[in-house]
Amino acid sequence: MNYEAVLAGLPDAVIAVDTSLRIVFWNAAAEVLTERSARRAEGRLVKEVFPAESSVVRRLGETLATGESRSEPEALVERPDGRPVPVSIVTAPLFGRDGSVEAAVAVLRDLSRIRQLEAEVRRGETLAAAGRMAVGLAHEIRNPLGAIRGAVQLLKRELHAERRLAEYTDVLVTEVDRVNRIIEMLLDLARPVQLRLVPLNLHQLLEAVALLGEEGARERNVALVRRYDPSLPPILGDEDRLLQVFHNLVRNALDAMKDGGRLTLTTRVSLNPLFGKMDLGAGQQHMVEAIFADEGAGIPAAARARIFDPFFTTKDKGLGLGLAICHRILEEHRGAIQVESTEGRGTTVTCFLPIAK
Ligand SMILES: Nc1ncnc2c1ncn2[C@@H]1O[C@H](COP(=O)(O)OP(=O)(O)OP(=O)(O)O)[C@@H](O)[C@H]1O
Ligand SMILES: [Mg+2]
Repeated sequence: MNYEAVLAGLPDAVIAVDTSLRIVFWNAAAEVLTERSARRAEGRLVKEVFPAESSVVRRLGETLATGESRSEPEALVERPDGRPVPVSIVTAPLFGRDGSVEAAVAVLRDLSRIRQLEAEVRRGETLAAAGRMAVGLAHEIRNPLGAIRGAVQLLKRELHAERRLAEYTDVLVTEVDRVNRIIEMLLDLARPVQLRLVPLNLHQLLEAVALLGEEGARERNVALVRRYDPSLPPILGDEDRLLQVFHNLVRNALDAMKDGGRLTLTTRVSLNPLFGKMDLGAGQQHMVEAIFADEGAGIPAAARARIFDPFFTTKDKGLGLGLAICHRILEEHRGAIQVESTEGRGTTVTCFLPIAK
């Protein structure tokens, strides 16, 4: 049995040190996790590779000194560029023939994907809580609003001779309708949406949205670029809901491009972002991506974690519900949404959608 081949193939990072804490083994997963090659790591002291006070160094030292295993469920490993990766660490001693400690092994498991999924679940919970509140509120607000709207319309009829006053009633109706729309949007977050899933041509949907956005794009000096994959298979989706998603994303992109630029719509088939990372059951291996890439202001790092929160907005007239609703709708489609952004350069939003079988 070639044990080294087994260790090399493990998905967890395995690092072994001798009694002087010199690295004697560094598997492929350790190379990926730490972004340091085995060639550069092996033969060096572990504290030359990681900071001397880091968890890995400390735990390995303790294991060598005591001959006991150590574990740390939440630790950090720094990549060469300083980026920290969340890991769990377990160390174990290796004993020689005479029973003395000869070496120590550390097994590091990358937790970043799990952390990402946890954040995703938390986000879903926040949305659900906001939705439940909305249902209660909507009930209390919609009835009086209906009464106000009706009364205003009666008033308007009485006032029809008085032009000047009719202007006020128009404002009242418009604003009542606006509040109603906000409530409708909140309810969208809350109710279990009944999707009407049918095979759809994604390019037709994108073109419908592009047409709606054309006017706004021209005003802002934004050029629409299409990079469609002509062999794209039909997707399985709910037409109205997906139009709502794409419309929101185009509006966000246009809002971000005050000084013009390009909005590139790309379609392609790709691997499911979750495939291979977790058990998807009968989950699909391939999905369709609809990508909205703008050259706008980008999203500041501090805002990035909050853009999906309901009511998080940086706009004067924004509600902060657009992305929360997009997230909800794509989740219902068993799809996903991903946002990447560089401040000053632009933002790329990718929607993952299932392929119609
Ligand atoms: N393409 C983008 N470029 C830059 N910032 C963006 C982009 N998309 C979203 N954002 C940021 O995320 C925030 C939340 O977006 P979201 O669509 O949820 O709400 P909103 O656009 O502010 O309001 P609305 O409810 O009208 O959509 C925005 O206020 C903006 O700061
Ligand atoms: Mg928006």
